[in-house]
Amino acid sequence: MKGSDRLRRLASYAFIAALVVAAVSCNEAHPNTTLVPHSDLGREIDFLWDRLLLLGTIVFILVEGVLVYVVFRYRRRENQGTPPQTHGSTKLEIAWTLIPAVILVFIAVPTVRTIFITQAQAAPGSLSIEVTGHQWWWEFKYPEYGVTTANEIYLPVGRTVNFRLRSADVIHSFWTPQLGGKRDVVTNRTNYMWYTPDTSTSSNVWNGFCVEYCGASHANMRFRVFTVSQQQFDSWVAGQKLPARFGAVGPVAPPGGPIPPPLEAPAVTTPPGARLGAAQSSVAAVATGTVQTGYIFPRDKIPDYAVPHTPIPPDLKFTAGLTGNAARGKQVFSSSACIGCHSIAGNPAAMGVTGPNLTHVGSRSTIAAGRFPNAAAYLALWIKNARKMKPEVIMPTLGLDEYDPVLKAKVTAARGGLTDQQIADIVAYLTALK
Ligand code: CUA
Repeated sequence: MKGSDRLRRLASYAFIAALVVAAVSCNEAHPNTTLVPHSDLGREIDFLWDRLLLLGTIVFILVEGVLVYVVFRYRRRENQGTPPQTHGSTKLEIAWTLIPAVILVFIAVPTVRTIFITQAQAAPGSLSIEVTGHQWWWEFKYPEYGVTTANEIYLPVGRTVNFRLRSADVIHSFWTPQLGGKRDVVTNRTNYMWYTPDTSTSSNVWNGFCVEYCGASHANMRFRVFTVSQQQFDSWVAGQKLPARFGAVGPVAPPGGPIPPPLEAPAVTTPPGARLGAAQSSVAAVATGTVQTGYIFPRDKIPDYAVPHTPIPPDLKFTAGLTGNAARGKQVFSSSACIGCHSIAGNPAAMGVTGPNLTHVGSRSTIAAGRFPNAAAYLALWIKNARKMKPEVIMPTLGLDEYDPVLKAKVTAARGGLTDQQIADIVAYLTALK
């Protein structure tokens, strides 16, 4: 094969490889891609990435081209003596010092420009969200509205949101790939990051991740971002501001409409539910009435990429066919270890701050920081033995006679172990807290 044929073939392989990379990386079917930004911040970073990739590609092609040319053109031939030996060329030395310096200028200017844009203070009137990274979940506070939630953020599209990032323990990192980021969440330090979700993103769900290794369940420290219309956001805020109440049966507030006054009704008793997953559990806590609430992103509209598919540990079982009673569950919850770590506004017994605020836990789409869907079957197993559901989680194992993998001991009645019936009651209570 002649040298030029070989070169041509190499070039065609390289071209096909480049096409494949481009096709894969630009595909909208990749919900966690950072290459299709949907916010101002995301576009700034994307611009810098594109620019540097272009410059790097030009340099790569030139350098590799010269290299390949020299390798073939000056390769050793038969009956060839030792070529002339030279050392030092002032012209060359100056050239290969100056060229990289000029290239660096082309890299530095857009880089510094992007740093100044993305590190600037958020625009006045931004929506402030206080983010606290915990091992291994996210706490979100909306100080403007007095709303505290966990592992889920609602954002009105078109309004800049200013994240105030802090850690309760070790270093985490906050990242919503399609909306922008990422930024470290550092102990004893406050970092900021802002972006404005595009108005075209209304009614979307985005995955968020912790992207700094922070311990055994680092990979299980996720969150969801719901980008919604201003009306839906206002309705959601109004619902989240209400104290927790269960069994309050009333009309669902229409998006943007006023929140109807709370109505007290008898406690909701949950019917025995359908089996979920691999028949691991069959508690269901479906309220018999419509619980009064603000806007909640419809569960059936959540795309599959934002729905967890984590399998249930095979050795974790739950008694089939139990019916939870929310009123009883509230009593059990309020007199057990739960209240040491969790707050529920409207339940004066529950004032703990170590774990996620559960005031509206029933409105969330996942539990355990995005590890499982928020469904009664998963919630029951989670309460029964969280440490089997999520490695080394701080939430203790609560199920009676369950083995706690961290304490390496069985949970006894004396240590507050809960029966499956008690857990089913708690599940009914929590599920009703929309
Ligand atoms: Cu938090 Cu990794």
